[in-house]
Amino acid sequence: MRINEVPLREKSIVLIGFMGVGKTSIGKSVAKKLYRDFIDIDEEIESKYGMPTSEIFQTIGEQAFREKEKTTIIKACKQKLKIISVGGGAFLQEEIRNTCLAECIVFFLDLSWEHWQERISLLIDSRPVLQGKNIDEIKELFHKRQPIYEKHHSRVETDNLIIEEVADFIVDSLKTAWDIHEPNGG
Ligand code: S3P
Repeated sequence: MRINEVPLREKSIVLIGFMGVGKTSIGKSVAKKLYRDFIDIDEEIESKYGMPTSEIFQTIGEQAFREKEKTTIIKACKQKLKIISVGGGAFLQEEIRNTCLAECIVFFLDLSWEHWQERISLLIDSRPVLQGKNIDEIKELFHKRQPIYEKHHSRVETDNLIIEEVADFIVDSLKTAWDIHEPNGG
């Protein structure tokens, strides 16, 4: 371990993946299992502006949202021992990707299009990026976004798994990695 490098056991965990794959619910569950604080980046931004994301997009625009998203994520990544859920578009920004990968352990929550499309009606009202798009356009966006999530440390296939199962998988794989890389507790 290099001097000043955060031990693996203390690094924050970042969850990435397309909108609606369960980053927030799974993140909360992982945080509880590891006795850590949970940070939802969209919620942080919403509370700073005092309005939901869809209104932020309407009033100040997506570009301003993306700037705030970047500064909020970079600040969160500098903290230790957090579980952080970032929005599905965050990894489009290279600076966010690089910071998350350098400072934290990044888990990609991978859900197939077949399973994701069953959730669409639950998501559409609160996700400005989906609004005004037909199913083919959403499908295209879904597939276009997948390559940005390929930069990660660990991938979890979430099809047919419930929240608790995904959270358990993440916790187990973290514990395995900690024991292998820091057998004496870091
Ligand atoms: C977005 C995803 C949303 C939110 C915003 C933009 C995106 O977060 O950040 O609506 O571009 O994919 P979730 O992935 O938590 O839905």
